[in-house]
Amino acid sequence: MAKIAVVSADETHRQLIVGMIAQAAKHIVQQVQTTPAQALSQSGPTQGVDLLILESRCFSADDLNQLRRRLADQHNMLCMLMTENPSADLLMRAMRAGVQCVLPWPPDAQEFRDELQRCTSHAIGSSRDEGQVLSFVSCKGGSGTTFIAANLGHVLATKHDKRVLLVDLNQQYGDAAFLVSEQVPPATLTDVCRQIERLDLSLLEACVTHVSPNFDVLPGAGDPVKAGEIKAAHLARILALARPQYDVVIFDVGQDINPASIQVLDHSDLIYPVLQLNLNHLRAGRRLLDICQSLGYTAERLRLIINQFDKRALVTLRMLEENFGMPASHVLPNDPVPVRDAISQGVPVLQLAESSQIARALAKVASQLCPQVAPQSEGLLRKLWGQGNRATPILRLERQT
Ligand SMILES: Nc1ncnc2c1ncn2[C@@H]1O[C@H](COP(=O)(O)OP(=O)(O)O)[C@@H](O)[C@H]1O
Ligand SMILES: [Mg+2]
Repeated sequence: MAKIAVVSADETHRQLIVGMIAQAAKHIVQQVQTTPAQALSQSGPTQGVDLLILESRCFSADDLNQLRRRLADQHNMLCMLMTENPSADLLMRAMRAGVQCVLPWPPDAQEFRDELQRCTSHAIGSSRDEGQVLSFVSCKGGSGTTFIAANLGHVLATKHDKRVLLVDLNQQYGDAAFLVSEQVPPATLTDVCRQIERLDLSLLEACVTHVSPNFDVLPGAGDPVKAGEIKAAHLARILALARPQYDVVIFDVGQDINPASIQVLDHSDLIYPVLQLNLNHLRAGRRLLDICQSLGYTAERLRLIINQFDKRALVTLRMLEENFGMPASHVLPNDPVPVRDAISQGVPVLQLAESSQIARALAKVASQLCPQVAPQSEGLLRKLWGQGNRATPILRLERQT
C-alpha cells in the first residue's frame, strides 16, 4: 500500500483519478483540492507521500522549478503529472524536475494503471507502511527524558532522513517543543484532543509545529488542569492517523502512568525508561519496571537509558544490571554546557554542537535504531519517450532500483 496525494483544483478530475486508483489497487489516497502551485508552496500536502499526482490544465516554469526542489528534498517521493496535450517543452522541463511520467488528460485507464504500478512499487516493496512508535518515560523528574526524546527525534529526522513526529504527553510542563524550536506552536495536544471528532490528516498537519522539514512536534499544553482532557481514545485516534504518515512517532510520556499513557505504551514498539545512576533513580526505576511487567511489557521492548553518566558515581552499571535484571541499552554522558546552551536557545543539540559528547551519543542511539544508512537520492537513469498509438507523447523516466 502506498500513500498517494492527488492534487487538482478540479473536483471532477480529482474524483476520476481517485476512482481509477481505487480500481487499480488498495492505496492510501489523500485528495488535495488546490492548484499544483499552491500545493507545492506548502510542505503539508506532500509530506510522507510516496507518489504525488498533479493534475492541471497547464504547468508553468515556476511550478516545475518548485516541483524540482520538492522532489530533491523528498527523494522517496515519485511524481506523475497529468495535463491536456503535454508539449515536448513541458516533457523536457518535467524530466529535468525529476518527474517520473507525464500522462495526457483524459488518461487511458490501462496506461494509468501501468504507470501507477510502476510509480508505487518502491513504496510497496519497502516497509514504510507503519511508523515505529518509541516512548520515553521518566523514572524520576529531571532525568533528561524530554531532552533525549526531542533531540533523538531531531537526529533521526536530520541524519537518517526519517519523518518524525514527537508528541509531548507531559502536560505539566509541555516543554518538549521549546527544547528544539523557538516557534510559537500553532496548537497543542489538548487542542487536537478537543477537536478529535473532526481530526484528519489536514487538521493534524495544521496543528503540529514544523521544527525542520522532516521533524514535527505536537506540544504539550503546559497546563496540568487540561491534562485531564486527554483521553486514551484520543491518543489511539492520533496514533492511528500519524503512524502511516511518519517513519517514527516519539512520545515523551514523562512520569505519569495513567490510562492515556498506557494506551501509548501498549502501542509502543520500544519503551525507553530514562534514569540517572543514583539510589533515588534506581528505586524509582525498579518501580517503573515492575509497572511495565504488570502491564505485560516484555523485556525485549524495554531499553534502559542511563543519562548524565558519571563514572565516579557510587551506583555502578553492574549494580543497575543486577538490580533490574537487564543491562542499560544506552549510556549518555553528562555534558552540561552544550545541553544548557541548546535548551536555553531552543535549538537541537546536534545543530548547536554536533561534535559534543552528548550529540555524538545521541547519534549513536539513532544509528542503533536505524542501522542502515538512509538511501541516497537516486539518479534518473533512462528516459523513454513512449509514442505508442497516441498522438501525445508520454514521458517515462525510470529510477535505478
Ligand atoms: N546528558 C545531559 N547532560 C547534562 N545535563 C543534562 C543532560 N540531560 C539532561 N540534562 C539536564 O537535565 C535537565 C532536565 O532535563 P529534562 O529533559 O527536562 O528532564 P525530564 O523530562 O526527565 O524531567 C535539563 O534542564 C538539562 O539541563
Ligand atoms: Mg520532561
